[in-house]
Amino acid sequence: MINTLGHLAMAPEETAILDKILARHAKDAGPLIPVLQDVQRQFGYLSRENLAYIARALKIPLSDVFGTASFYAQFYLAPRGENMVRVCQGTACHVQGSGGILAAFAAALGIDAGETTADGKFSLERVACVGSCGLAPVVMINQQTFGRLSPEDVPLLLAKLSMPLGEPQQKAHDQPQEDAP
Ligand code: FES
Repeated sequence: MINTLGHLAMAPEETAILDKILARHAKDAGPLIPVLQDVQRQFGYLSRENLAYIARALKIPLSDVFGTASFYAQFYLAPRGENMVRVCQGTACHVQGSGGILAAFAAALGIDAGETTADGKFSLERVACVGSCGLAPVVMINQQTFGRLSPEDVPLLLAKLSMPLGEPQQKAHDQPQEDAP
């Protein structure tokens, strides 16, 4: 089924939300990025259908809309997992071995940075400095910050999120440092 903008039909509720966001930014000089931000805030990511709808509504070539959405790290073009694991790769964390921590998460979850597990439970990201350099190396899981980690802490962190660990994991030698919520 094709909707009035000539795209694969979306649920009427979804179209209504998009129209509301587009109307909110109708007078903006450069509405694309604020519209993309609002749509992502609403749906968690930017679907192909959403991008096509936005392109037609703003009269911007779809290739430009897609190019903008894929250029900025803040935008996601696929659904994200229930739990976001962000491994800091900033300078302070890098020199403290954050590469090994990222590799440990990738191995435990069976995905690379930028991917989501097949069950939709975890997404893994490499991020720049998250502002807690004194705790390097740092990982953020959802809104919580964990610092002074080693790769051996990874199974414990995932267990905290009820991750089925599968193969035997190394025992964490330390409790991870955790910021007060
Ligand atoms: S470099 Fe990782 S928190 Fe600053």
